[in-house]
Amino acid sequence: MNITESSYRLLSHEELLEFAREGATKSAELVIKSHLSLAGASGKTGLYYDRNNNEWYQPAGLAPSTHILKQSHVRLKKIVANEQLCLLTARKLGIRTPDSFIINLNDKENDFLFATERYDRKILDTSKELMGKKVPLRLHQEDFAQALGITASQKYEKNGKDYLADAFELIKNYSSNPIEDQIRLWDLCIFNYLIGNTDNHVKNIALLYSEDLKGIRLAPAYDLLSTVIYDSSTEKMSLNIDGEYDIRKINQKSFENEAKKLGLGKGIATQHFLSMVEKFEMALEQSTYELEEQGYRVAVDIQKQILKKAGIHNFKLTNS
Ligand SMILES: Nc1ncnc2c1ncn2[C@@H]1O[C@H](COP(=O)(O)OP(=O)(O)O)[C@@H](O)[C@H]1O
Ligand SMILES: [Mg+2]
Repeated sequence: MNITESSYRLLSHEELLEFAREGATKSAELVIKSHLSLAGASGKTGLYYDRNNNEWYQPAGLAPSTHILKQSHVRLKKIVANEQLCLLTARKLGIRTPDSFIINLNDKENDFLFATERYDRKILDTSKELMGKKVPLRLHQEDFAQALGITASQKYEKNGKDYLADAFELIKNYSSNPIEDQIRLWDLCIFNYLIGNTDNHVKNIALLYSEDLKGIRLAPAYDLLSTVIYDSSTEKMSLNIDGEYDIRKINQKSFENEAKKLGLGKGIATQHFLSMVEKFEMALEQSTYELEEQGYRVAVDIQKQILKKAGIHNFKLTNS
């Protein structure tokens, strides 16, 4: 098959609404139809976004998507706003993230989708066109489970394993900018703790290859959400910090000891930790306000829950 046998089909508002509403089953159908295989737990699909006309297209054949759309979740309420809130907050704290936004289809609960721009796609001036649309180039990405030879079923670290150390080792050996990428991963670990993201497993961090496959960098952060706000969620982080998994028991000392194990400079590692802690609440507050302004009042509840249940709360308890 070549690209000329491929296509983009305009999705109607109703189809998007149906996708937003139907949860996992409908999502699976769309995934199969467009030959996309996106791993992960939530219902999602890859679509092409025509920004100028605010239109969404379903790619077929070899046509690449530009965005990943994630549905609301039957059990994990407010998940769309949660993810957007976490991403906005992360961005304000200097964490590199893809652009993302909420698609509001009907102003009713669950008629929302979370959209994120794919960092593994690149539209160039020289890009060919298909049906009047620039066809993005696909960049190769590899999550840390793939890169470390860990099977998907082993993505949650078991006692005795130290995936974070393995990930840092991989960055040291393969990244085109190992110093910067180690710090970026370190910042992400701190952020996941503060926001209460215990689903920070090795398939939720990735390496991104350059076009010629010669350059390798830590990919922007994705799948950031506060899981501890849900009663059904575990308080066990997916990656240990100084041997500790329980987010309630992880503190500044754990991060200091972990930095030492990872071979990070104590000064810089602690400085990053303290600086992020210091700026966290303001960043969360501003992000909450932005979402509230856009009409997502639910962000306020999420913010409250984060301040009550996430690492930021534990940190303040142990330091007061
Ligand atoms: N912005 C993005 N750009 C490129 N790939 C992404 C992006 N966001 C997610 N992915 C890819 O899609 C997979 C599933 O997305 P993720 O956000 O982790 O969803 P889930 O909540 O289902 O785990 C990820 O493991 C990653 O490979
Ligand atoms: Mg994921």
